[in-house]
Formats: sequence, structure tokens, C-alpha cells
Amino acid sequence: MTLTTNNGQLTTNDLPEYSRAQLALRNGQDRDEIWVGYQGLIYDVTKSRLWRRGNHYEHWAGQDLTRELQKDAPHTEHVFDKFHAIGRLK
Ligand code: HEM
Repeated sequence: MTLTTNNGQLTTNDLPEYSRAQLALRNGQDRDEIWVGYQGLIYDVTKSRLWRRGNHYEHWAGQDLTRELQKDAPHTEHVFDKFHAIGRLK
């Protein structure tokens, strides 16, 4: 999805908003899509082999994992660089 403003700039404000309940449905179990919430944005990690079935090193997709990344992960948020934010978390 590509949304642009008048000056052609991409802005996260243009992304659709999803509730926590909608995010929870994309946990890798109930639907094909696998989404992860991070710092107010929702990333689609469906294509990642490291998030198959919604599980990633004992973390489950379908929720806001901001604190978990900061607390538990051996990597930084740069792991999201190659994924598109597809929405904002309400
Ligand atoms: C015990 C906690 C965790 C471990 C051991 C772990 C481990 C890893 C490893 C080894 C990789 C691949 C190498 C790399 O890019 O550094 C990776 C990638 C990634 N991690 Fe984590 N991670 C943890 C927690 C998290 C959390 C909480 C999130 C989400 C907020 C997250 C999101 C990602 C993403 C999006 C990728 C990229 C996947 C890809 O490239 O296909 N990780 N993680």
C-alpha cells in the first residue's frame, strides 16, 4: 500500500488505525496475516521465516511487543527496517 501527501511525502499518519482486538486476530493462528505492534505502528511480518505461525523466540505476534523488544531482544528495532508498517495501533 502506498499513500502519499500533496508533496509526495509518505507519512505514518496516513496509515489505517487498527484496534488491539484487530491486531490480536493476526497472531499467526487465526488468520494468514501475521502482524506485530511496535511503538504505535503495526508491521506485517507474514513473510518472515522467523515469525512462522506467529511465534518468535517465545514471543507471540498479534500484540504490542514494544517493551519486549527493549527488554528481551538481542537486537535493535532495525530488524523492522525491511518490513512495511501497514497500520497504526489505536
Ligand atoms: C528473546 C527475545 C528475542 C530473541 C532471542 C530474538 C532473536 C532474533 C534473531 C536471532 C533474529 C535474526 C537476526 C537479527 O536480525 O538480529 C531476529 C529478527 C527479528 N526479530 Fe527478534 N528476537 C527476540 C525478540 C523480538 C521481539 C520482542 C520482536 C518484536 C517487537 C522481534 C522482532 C524481530 C523482527 C521483526 C526480526 C526480523 C525478522 C526477519 O528478518 O525475518 N524480536 N530476532
